[in-house]
Amino acid sequence: MGRYNPDSAEIIRRVALKPVSIGLLGLGTVGGGTVKVLKRNAFEITRRAGREIQIVAAAARNLKHPRQCDTTGMRLTMNPFEIVADPEVDIVVELIGGLAPAKELVLKALDAGKHVVTANKMLIALHGNEIFAKAQERGLMVAFEAAVAGGIPIIKAVREGLAGNTVEWLAGIINGTCNFILSEMREKGRDFAEALAEAQALGYAEADPSFDVEGIDAAHKLTILASTAFGIPLQFDKVYVEGIRGITALDVSYAEALGYRIKLLGIARRTGEGIELRVHPTLIPARRLIANVEGVMNAVLVKGDAVGPTLYYGAGAGAEPTASAVVADIIDVVRTLTSDPENRVPHLAFQPGAISDIPVLPMEAVETAYYLRLSAEDKPGVLADVARILADHRISIEAVIQKEPRHGETQLPVILLTHRVRERELNQALRRIEALPTVGGPVKRIRLEPLG
Ligand code: HSE
Repeated sequence: MGRYNPDSAEIIRRVALKPVSIGLLGLGTVGGGTVKVLKRNAFEITRRAGREIQIVAAAARNLKHPRQCDTTGMRLTMNPFEIVADPEVDIVVELIGGLAPAKELVLKALDAGKHVVTANKMLIALHGNEIFAKAQERGLMVAFEAAVAGGIPIIKAVREGLAGNTVEWLAGIINGTCNFILSEMREKGRDFAEALAEAQALGYAEADPSFDVEGIDAAHKLTILASTAFGIPLQFDKVYVEGIRGITALDVSYAEALGYRIKLLGIARRTGEGIELRVHPTLIPARRLIANVEGVMNAVLVKGDAVGPTLYYGAGAGAEPTASAVVADIIDVVRTLTSDPENRVPHLAFQPGAISDIPVLPMEAVETAYYLRLSAEDKPGVLADVARILADHRISIEAVIQKEPRHGETQLPVILLTHRVRERELNQALRRIEALPTVGGPVKRIRLEPLG
């Protein structure tokens, strides 16, 4: 407690107000972490919030399940609908995840006049527009810091800390499972399947790991980040999504030889024509700080016109890191319970009447650099043919590596790095290259971002 005097008249006056009552939906990993953090830091939290915060009721799928947290003083139920209808509850904290019944519970909580805190990235990315409209209509808060990058306060940073900037772009490692897999592949030379099995054994992956490895989880988080950065509606269906299943140990090592690391990035960029929204494996220069984010850690790089590049790093998942964000949201809601509702921070950072209809660009309109790997016959003129096709499409080559063919093989791997080009042009060039009789199979392409 340091030198702070808990008996000061000021604290007593503030906390003499009736405690704020929380109804908790979900007592799993994040729910348990939230209970622990609220209890352990109760004194500091009360000092910050100006009111005591009590969990009065909690819903769990199975009440017989042994708990990691102390549920003394909470009414426990298996029916979460009881909690959203409970007149004693001021704030509903939704930590169930998924769409059903989470969406119905959140909407019912708002109908019952309760503020909501949620860690549910899929719910916000897919149904946030509807949820925020209802909350706005009723003057209620829906806080969702824990939905993106776990414990990193990235929503608050973009929505409040960078509010004076025009955000130019952001790029994030926002799926710890994929980052862990790519780190294992690079550091230990493991192949994808082996690294995924390890991620699952360590409990990092989502219940359905395809949400992680196919980039869907990252796309949910990117959708939310982009809306708070650019003031556009949540548009998950417009995000280009490509996961890491196709990345081989070979690509990881060739990238490294060229001075790059492969990361699954969520990228949102403002251009003159619209907004790029994309999740895909990306080569980034190994010297960038973000390229050195390894294992399950998350990091988000945000470039504002005034501040320049800023980087936010921390745990993207886990019980207490995620609870850190949930509890911060609860404190924000408690603070606003006593302030002027017209002066709340808008749900998506921009005033609801000022949301922009700037279009999200199709992937073919996106401009980026590329890593290309192709298998070519080992004879004169083959590389010249490839280079000519690229030149025809005004695609400039930045670097080339040609590997020796293995003993007895006539095909050899050729790796090319290109300068920036529009995806449409590259697609046309690749169709022609793949049709060359001297080139075997499809050309492997991984996008490259200098992030400078
Ligand atoms: N499965 C997610 C990840 C958990 O790997 O990042 C946090 O959303």
